[in-house]
Amino acid sequence: MAEAPLQFPKGFVWGTATASYQVEGAVHEDSRGTSIWDTFSHKAGRTRNGDTGDVACRHYERVQEDVALIKELGVGAYRFSVAWPRVQPDGKGPANQAGLDFYRRLVEALRANGISPVATLYHWDLPQALEDQGGWTERSTAERFAEYAEMVADVLGDEVGSWVTLNEPWCSAWLGYGTGVHAPGRIEPAESLRAAHHLLLAHGWAVDVLRRATKAPVGIALSLIPAIPASERNLDVSAANWVDGNHNAAYLAPLFTGAYPGNVAELFSAPGASLGFIQRGDMGEISRPLDFLGVNYYHSQVFADLTNTEAARHEGYLVAPPFPPRSGTGLPAPVRVYRPGLEHTAMGWEIDPQALGPVLLRVRDEYTKVPLYITENGVALDDYRGPDGAVHDPRRIQYLDAHLREVRRAIDRGVSVRGYFVWSLMDNFEWSEGYSKRFGLTWVEYPTGERAPKDSFFWYRQVAAANALP
Ligand code: FCB
Repeated sequence: MAEAPLQFPKGFVWGTATASYQVEGAVHEDSRGTSIWDTFSHKAGRTRNGDTGDVACRHYERVQEDVALIKELGVGAYRFSVAWPRVQPDGKGPANQAGLDFYRRLVEALRANGISPVATLYHWDLPQALEDQGGWTERSTAERFAEYAEMVADVLGDEVGSWVTLNEPWCSAWLGYGTGVHAPGRIEPAESLRAAHHLLLAHGWAVDVLRRATKAPVGIALSLIPAIPASERNLDVSAANWVDGNHNAAYLAPLFTGAYPGNVAELFSAPGASLGFIQRGDMGEISRPLDFLGVNYYHSQVFADLTNTEAARHEGYLVAPPFPPRSGTGLPAPVRVYRPGLEHTAMGWEIDPQALGPVLLRVRDEYTKVPLYITENGVALDDYRGPDGAVHDPRRIQYLDAHLREVRRAIDRGVSVRGYFVWSLMDNFEWSEGYSKRFGLTWVEYPTGERAPKDSFFWYRQVAAANALP
């Protein structure tokens, strides 16, 4: 006998997401300025195959068609991001009207189709002109961000359903300034700590700006990755704790408790670094009350200490290169190990839906009772388009189904999860992985820009329509 469908609470928001640099293209159109991702992706060896966002999914020109696609998907909300360099080409000074008009058109088209716009103010595309003056390591960048937020809020304030200030400040700070894997590609851990602080300040100031301009709910999206120790050995536990601190606690704690973890400098691989850039009043501004927290979840990770990798191998783990490589700091040296038997995505991420529930419970129990939205969840697979033009992606359906079941279980356990956004509406520019990784519910034929909904698109459409898993 077929099982009954798994129903979601009334009013649960079904959505999907993209981000400006990953889909828009048209990098010179309508006076858009240069972003750090334009600069970074054009440098040799920084992205796979030297891919750039110059053309991307041509969303800038196909925006109306894409709204029709979202409508066809039948979701109630669409999360997109505003490209700061479209609105302020140099990150300061007067607004570029054409840039604002683009987002205004997008938001109006969404509204006209009954889709609630969820606008992210910053999904990593900092104006290059600001990076030239130090980027996020400078406090003035946070001041510029508040001005930019005001410009956007003035124009879109009433039309946007909810606001997300920043997407994943961990990526901006640590990958951008600590490990250099993302733009601007700097490898300066102590500077990445300053960057994190200024990002969080920018967030807090933007919250104040948005509160003045609109009544719409305001939140932030954090990527939360559970870091699990490979064993009970002290060193493995410290290695996993370090990663957890660096990735999760360094953001959750200031946002929701108004204080950094005591060992924050160590968490940024900068023991002894001065925290003199934290000014009086900053922590209160960073921890402004929010209406919701966006959780981006993709996978969990297991860590062993570098010195314990032989033991970890012995227990059947596969061992990755040290993360981050460091010596002589006296800090734990975490090495990512892979669990035998867990499936990997095309990103090399281990599929672990069951780790999602504990993440949500932990947020509620340790940090905040505000409603949660899964603002991103999805999977890159080695999709291909068959001769019939279709893309059969049963593993994506399985992945989404398993994660949604876990969300449903968390709701049963009293966690207030109000919505879920699939990453992504369509295949797009996956940062340093370029176009090699396909996360979309929709296939994008890059040479032409043609869109082709995958099987998972039609599956998700059913789920959203029924407010239930089949
Ligand atoms: C998240 C990013 C998003 C996308 C997914 C796969 O970290 O927010 O832009 O690249 O990962």
